[in-house]
Order: sequence, then C-alpha cells, then structure tokens
Amino acid sequence: MEKREELYAGKAKSVYATDNPDLLVMHFRNDTSAFDGKKREQLERKGAVNNQFNAFIMEKLQAAGIATHMEKQLSADESLVKRLDMIPVECVVRNIAAGSICRRLGIPEGTELNPPTYELFLKNDALGDPMINESHALSFGWATQEQLETMQKLTFRANEVLRQLFLDGGMLLVDFKLEFGVFHGEVLLADEFSPDGCRLWDRQTREKLDKDRFRQDLGNVVESYEEVGRRLGMTFSYA
Ligand code: ADP
Ligand code: TMP
Ligand code: ASP
Repeated sequence: MEKREELYAGKAKSVYATDNPDLLVMHFRNDTSAFDGKKREQLERKGAVNNQFNAFIMEKLQAAGIATHMEKQLSADESLVKRLDMIPVECVVRNIAAGSICRRLGIPEGTELNPPTYELFLKNDALGDPMINESHALSFGWATQEQLETMQKLTFRANEVLRQLFLDGGMLLVDFKLEFGVFHGEVLLADEFSPDGCRLWDRQTREKLDKDRFRQDLGNVVESYEEVGRRLGMTFSYA
C-alpha cells in the first residue's frame, strides 16, 4: 500500500488517498477542537492516543457484529480504512444527560435517561451541527429510510457493547456520536470512536475523563484519555 496525496484535512484528522481507490489513510493529528472549531489547541500525544483507542474500540465493535471501515492500524497515529461515501448525519445516543441536551431541554446534568435517547445532527460546522430529524434527512436526501434504520440499529448495538465495556473499567458511558458511510452499497461505521466524541465519567466520583476536560478547561486532557485506555487494558505507543 502506497500513501498518496492528502484529500481532506478536517479539524482533528487528515485523510490521504492510497494506490488502492477503495482505501484511505486516516492520520490522527494532535489538533483538538471544540464548539465547531471555535476553540482549538495542539495537545501532545493526542493523535497517537486517539488512533490506538479507536483501533481498539473498532475491533470490539466489529467482533460484536457491527461492520466498520477499519482495515488495520498502520502506525502510532495512522490507520488504513475503507473509502466511504459519508452520510452527513451524526448519530448520538445518550445514557445520561450532559452537554447540549441540558441546554436545549433544561435537564440537570447527570439525569439518567431510561431508555437512552437517540438524536440526529447535521454534520455542518458553518451551521453549528444543528439537530435534525429523519424527515429532514429524507427530504434533503442526506440518507435513505433504510440507511437511517441501519444507522439507528447499529448505534444502539454499539451502545450495548460499549456501555458494558466501559462499566467493566469503572466508567459510565454518558453519550457518544457515531458517523456512518456507504461502501459498495453497504452502511459501515466510519470516522472514529475516541474520548473526543463521547462522554465518559468515573463510575464512583463522576469525574469527567473525556473532551469535556478540554471544552471546560479542566486540564489533563490527554492524560485522562490515557487513563481511560489503561482502565480498558490498553497500552499506548508513541513512536
Ligand atoms: P471534521 O471533518 O469534522 O473536522 P475530522 O478532522 O475528524 O473531522 O476529519 C475526518 C473526516 O474524514 C471527517 O469529515 C469524516 O467524516 C471523514 N471520514 C471518516 N471516515 C471516513 C471514511 N472511511 N471514508 C471517507 N471519509 C471519512
Ligand atoms: P452534545 O452534547 O454537544 O450534543 O454532544 C453529544 C455527544 O456527541 C458528545 O459526546 C460529543 C459528541 N459530538 C461530537 O463529538 N461531535 C459533534 O459534532 C456532535 C454534535 C456531538
Ligand atoms: N467535535 C466538534 C468540534 O470539534 C464539537 C465539539 O466537540 O464540541 O467542534
């Protein structure tokens, strides 16, 4: 496999073409952003930590029957993935209220959500990733009914698997965001699962161990991501 030209540089990752038109190299950079790119910083080791964290989680999801874009981890901060037509809809499950749902609905942070909520957001930084519903996705052609059903089913399945995985490590999976894309007609889980796109709290103390540490200037951002990985039995390499 030969890495070729950069196709896209996002807020936290860059994607590169390869000599195989069906495959991309995904490079996890140290760039960290929040509030749709309004707050940005470079955090040492974050690219490597998120790449290895993501590879670990994607393998667990794949083993649980969720088809993903992952081919293999290439280096500390790069992975090879299938090249998908991305669906511009972000799927969010919440087990506990935090973040935007508290602001939108006046819910106190920490309220248990039973059953968990499922929300869709349009992936569009310029518009601040507005919340949408299935009718919008259909009317504007962002996804088909069948794709929406698959995305919802896979997102809830991921919640079952990951909630237990984090609980076994003494953590609460508060919420998370997934992105999907289409590969030769099949909907696959894409992008990443890392502490950048979810909320994780210590089960006992409810200490925040995710990107809220960056959003809220709590410090020790990457150190907390490493702690989450350590609790799942991971070891990171930075070379
Ligand atoms: P953003 O675009 O939100 O700033 P990133 O910095 O994480 O996000 O950039 C990664 C980009 O790559 C995202 O736009 C994401 O939708 C896209 N992407 C993720 N996985 C794939 C894939 N398998 N094929 C094509 N594009 C992908
Ligand atoms: P929210 O509380 O800001 O709506 O976010 C819910 C969860 O989804 C939280 O873990 C962060 C994640 N998320 C992203 O990572 N990127 C996004 O663009 C959105 C809308 C949510
Ligand atoms: N991931 C989005 C951003 O980088 C939203 C957030 O995390 O606040 O802006």
